[in-house]
Amino acid sequence: MMEGFLGNLWLWVKAAHIIFAIFLMAGLFMMPRFFIYHQEAPVGSPEDARWIERERRLKNIILNPSLIVVWVLGIVLALNGGMFSQGWFHAKLLFVLLLSGYHGWTVGYAKKLARGERAFSDKKLRMWNEVPGVAAAVIVILAVVRPF
Ligand code: HEM
Repeated sequence: MMEGFLGNLWLWVKAAHIIFAIFLMAGLFMMPRFFIYHQEAPVGSPEDARWIERERRLKNIILNPSLIVVWVLGIVLALNGGMFSQGWFHAKLLFVLLLSGYHGWTVGYAKKLARGERAFSDKKLRMWNEVPGVAAAVIVILAVVRPF
């Protein structure tokens, strides 16, 4: 039984970590979908303005708070379990950094759309949409199986 300084709180913190990871992933799956629908609306149209507002809310209410909570709880768990020296944790960190970079990309792309810039084609957005799913699968396998 691995408890660390969190004691009986440990499993509750871990449960919260997973809950917020689910919220984060939901946001990361929704955002590029929003972008695809958004780009169907002409720049400056009322529909364009509605998508800008939806993207702003998704970022402020779901994406940014979830990312912060997942990181803070993840680091607390790693300190609690003395995991900074473990191979699976290093690999997991690499992939959560990748996922955080993707998060940053969605926030940046939403800003571009709000300025009327449409940098990616629909096809490219659909391809980018695969990144968070693959990253989440790798992260969960590393965290649960801990193969090394
Ligand atoms: C953002 C930085 C993150 C850090 C620093 C981090 C760190 C950790 C640590 C140290 C544990 C082990 C907890 C323990 O056993 O006491 C853990 C568990 C877990 N993490 Fe993360 N994590 C992060 C992000 C994520 C993300 C994005 C996901 C999902 C996509 C995720 C899914 C999980 C799952 C499912 C477990 C439970 C594994 C198990 O106990 O079997 N984590 N995390």
